[in-house]
Amino acid sequence: MSVLQTKHLLEVRNLRVNFRTPDGFVTAVNDLNFTLAQGETLGIVGESGSGKSQTAFALMGLLAGNGVIEGEARFNEQNILNLNEKAMNRIRSKEIAMIFQDPMTSLNPYMKVGKQLMEVLTLHKGMSKAEAFEASVKMLDAVKMPEARKRMKMYPHEFSGGMRQRVMIAMALLCQPKLLIADEPTTALDVTVQAQILTLLNELKDDFNTSIIMITHDLGVVAGLCDKVLVMYAGQTMEYGTAEDIFYRPTHPYTQGLLNAIPRLDADDDMLSTIPGNPPDLLHLPPGCPFHARCEFAKERCLERMPTLQEFAPGQLRACHKPLDGWVT
Ligand SMILES: Nc1ncnc2c1ncn2[C@@H]1O[C@H](COP(=O)(O)OP(=O)(O)O)[C@@H](O)[C@H]1O
Ligand SMILES: [Mg+2]
Repeated sequence: MSVLQTKHLLEVRNLRVNFRTPDGFVTAVNDLNFTLAQGETLGIVGESGSGKSQTAFALMGLLAGNGVIEGEARFNEQNILNLNEKAMNRIRSKEIAMIFQDPMTSLNPYMKVGKQLMEVLTLHKGMSKAEAFEASVKMLDAVKMPEARKRMKMYPHEFSGGMRQRVMIAMALLCQPKLLIADEPTTALDVTVQAQILTLLNELKDDFNTSIIMITHDLGVVAGLCDKVLVMYAGQTMEYGTAEDIFYRPTHPYTQGLLNAIPRLDADDDMLSTIPGNPPDLLHLPPGCPFHARCEFAKERCLERMPTLQEFAPGQLRACHKPLDGWVT
């Protein structure tokens, strides 16, 4: 093993995102901490409303106007939270790229796909049109777009959902970003296409040595892709560990609930158990662990105070009062 410490590409420290609303403050991201090395993939997983997208938006400088950020996110040693628009634009175009669930939010429906790809390169890389054309075709090939050259002349609506997502991935990778943030990139796709896109991302991360933050509500999506997984609920980290820890040795009842909800090809769908109940209203968070109302193991102390996030095994953290070997009754 190398004696050198791995240098982190991204180091997020005590990140909080508060929103001002007419009814008071809402804390959508509550004291988040994680690090990401170059080439590493982190999955951020949790049900809808857990604060996953707001985490990404905070990092990208894309928060809504009523959002207030606290904490630090050091990217290549530079704190990128609260940068001015010009500095953030430079990072967004060259260093960190983001893809979304619906590619149509980022593609211009009236412009040929090839032109949209080429513009990235002529604007940000100063390439000539001819150079940009060839580089775009090459990138479409890299994302396994069939007949890439021909597709350059097509409009976004002429592509299937999966192919559009490939265009988005190609566009995101054109400037060779060090970090790719993918926010539910496969959620709108059917299962087969979803698997193809995940395989593609897996290959690309090796080819380009890109770090990826994969955001999803589906723990199954991160299985073959992520090195580390952060399980989030009501803005807080419930559990964090290697993908192996999370899949084979989950210790938080919430993680276990998410695992039981993964659809499996080999099992009857009727056997799927979703976690009963709904995530709490962030405006009226009850005291204690935010998951207590849905947790079958909750005891009195879970209703009284939030458990602290503790490293109970090397590299594996969880915030839960339940002892690892269960409550003594
Ligand atoms: N502009 C906003 N104003 C007030 N609250 C917001 C705003 N945007 C998001 N939120 C709150 O943040 C919570 C987390 O949102 P989000 O990060 O989008 O969840 P998800 O995990 O589904 O991506 C939402 O449930 C909502 O309560
Ligand atoms: Mg989201």
